[in-house]
Amino acid sequence: MPEPFATLGRAARLVVLVSGTGTLLQSLIDACSDPAYGAEIVAVGSDRPGIQGLERAVRADIPTFVESLQGHATRAEWDHALTADVAAYEPDLVISAGFMKLVGPEFLARFEGRMINTHPTLLPSFPGTHGPRDALAYGVKITGATVFLVDSGIDSGVILDQRAVPVAEDDTVETLHERIKVAERELLVTITHQLVTRSWRVADRKVLWR
Ligand code: GAR
Repeated sequence: MPEPFATLGRAARLVVLVSGTGTLLQSLIDACSDPAYGAEIVAVGSDRPGIQGLERAVRADIPTFVESLQGHATRAEWDHALTADVAAYEPDLVISAGFMKLVGPEFLARFEGRMINTHPTLLPSFPGTHGPRDALAYGVKITGATVFLVDSGIDSGVILDQRAVPVAEDDTVETLHERIKVAERELLVTITHQLVTRSWRVADRKVLWR
């Protein structure tokens, strides 16, 4: 995205991918209800049917699609189908918001550089699917949330921004993750607004804002 979307004279088109309860998605839905936010969610996709995230999209009158891994003979076929599903909505930005699958090479070839993900730890610490559990087990005193550009690695892309969250002595995985998600929702809404309204580029693993 070399040019700011503001110069397009229209709201940026977002496709959001989810796998679970979709509270991050909800924060984006709420933010997009203000035209000044600069973006609209044109579709919500999932790798599994019947999840709360999809229900949130339906309630907000946003089109949805489901592309289950189980519905395909190979992971490459799933990647091909997911790429086509998302591409059909011509997104300016793809947002993985609690989407618990790694996208494949075809998806990245099409969307790398304009796909972001959010993770519930301070990367590069504790990547993967159990970030808050791993951070708590390690005994860190501060953890947080990270929004980054997706690349072919596991939570290894260029970091766009982070929020720190202290760990309480009596935290469980659930209480810690819930507190992280409060920070994560604010972070995701803020960084998405910046990405679609400001001019930016990446150099040497750093995002440079004009
Ligand atoms: C969020 O904490 C997100 O970072 C995490 O799933 C949660 C989704 O919450 N994603 C990952 O851990 C990806 N590795 P939500 O369903 O309430 O939006």
